[in-house]
Amino acid sequence: MTTGYQLKSLLTAEGEASLYFEAKDFSDLASDQVLIQVEAAPINPSDLALLTAPMDLESLTSSGSGYETKISAKAKPGAVQFFAARLGMALTTGNEGAGTVIAAGDSEAAQALLGKKVGAFGGGMYAQYRVANVMECLPLPEGASAEQGASSFVNPMTALGMIETMKMEGHSAIIHTAAASNLGQMLNRLCLADGIPLICVVRSETQKTLLESQGAQCVLNSQDPNFFADLTDACDRYHATLAFDATGGGTLGSTLLNGMEAAAARHLTEYNRYGSDRFKQLYIYGGLDVSPTTLHRGFGFAWSINGWLLPQFLGRAGIEVMMRMRARVAAELTTSFASHYAHRVSLPEALSLDLVREYASQATGVKTLIQPTHEG
Ligand SMILES: NC(=O)c1ccc[n+]([C@@H]2O[C@H](COP(=O)([O-])OP(=O)(O)OC[C@H]3O[C@@H](n4cnc5c(N)ncnc54)[C@H](OP(=O)(O)O)[C@@H]3O)[C@@H](O)[C@H]2O)c1
Repeated sequence: MTTGYQLKSLLTAEGEASLYFEAKDFSDLASDQVLIQVEAAPINPSDLALLTAPMDLESLTSSGSGYETKISAKAKPGAVQFFAARLGMALTTGNEGAGTVIAAGDSEAAQALLGKKVGAFGGGMYAQYRVANVMECLPLPEGASAEQGASSFVNPMTALGMIETMKMEGHSAIIHTAAASNLGQMLNRLCLADGIPLICVVRSETQKTLLESQGAQCVLNSQDPNFFADLTDACDRYHATLAFDATGGGTLGSTLLNGMEAAAARHLTEYNRYGSDRFKQLYIYGGLDVSPTTLHRGFGFAWSINGWLLPQFLGRAGIEVMMRMRARVAAELTTSFASHYAHRVSLPEALSLDLVREYASQATGVKTLIQPTHEG
């Protein structure tokens, strides 16, 4: 019997949000399943949606130690209504991670993974063990460490998915916001390698310098007074008609559509009250800014705004595209798809209050890696 601890997240109807550990038996394996001893799992913004999004961090308290640690907070105003679908459910946490396959079901595909280091996704990775279907596993290249493979799915596949989307939908450049994120740095490396024009939008000079030091050719600071004029020039230069916005809230997405339209309008031969007929696509793929999305509709009528989520994109793209993307992630794991971590902690250390407040800030360069095999 293999038992181990998992990190659970609970929000109650009475307005208490808590994170705590629960023991689980991981012994039962179906024929196409493997048992992974988890060695590394990153805390990404999408994980925070389950971990800290409902919490009023001012009211955070902690009790117990080791795997008896529990942290609790009052729910933020409105959180009980917003998260109504999860009330009372003890949810597993951790979208992705990596570790060693220590047991396997009897299918050939499962047996082939025995003893291998794999990356995996699909939830439940903040745990000592995780049962995974073979299709959820990406065998890591020979010699790659679990840390190198921990972020091998969510951000790499999303960065590649953005490029695939661009090609599938006939665009020739990408505008990307929160562009100094781990994902943004990957996208920059991919676009440089593939010769794809990328307009990186950041919100500080430090982030601009960081991306430029990595070779980024067009980095715009949204706080710069000339931002809109520079955005319009860049959209014109690269014929940009596609934007991926990680912030979601506020006016940034609207500004991107207006910049694309202003660039198109430069080429109109006569005034048209309905704007240009150049089609502009904005994908909102993150929620870093939780304020309402505001549109200032100066961008004509040839536009669309959609959500973009990796699993839905993979369903649309099909298995062949997905396998091609996975092969590229495996081949370039330690180069194009390298991630950077500010903290490496054990499972219980991940609940230390100062650290929780830090990773909840979602700032550049403070990503935390949980290492469940470390006792800490
Ligand atoms: N839809 C999907 O399928 C999918 C898949 C993967 C990732 N994502 C999204 O991709 C984004 C990046 O993920 P990551 O793991 O690469 O992030 P990360 O490395 O943790 O970096 C987060 C970045 O967001 C910036 N940021 C935070 N709040 C912001 C705000 N209100 N306005 C503008 N920028 C803000 C930070 O800049 P500062 O230092 O200025 O705070 C930082 O550069 C996240 O939004 C995540 O949810 C979506």
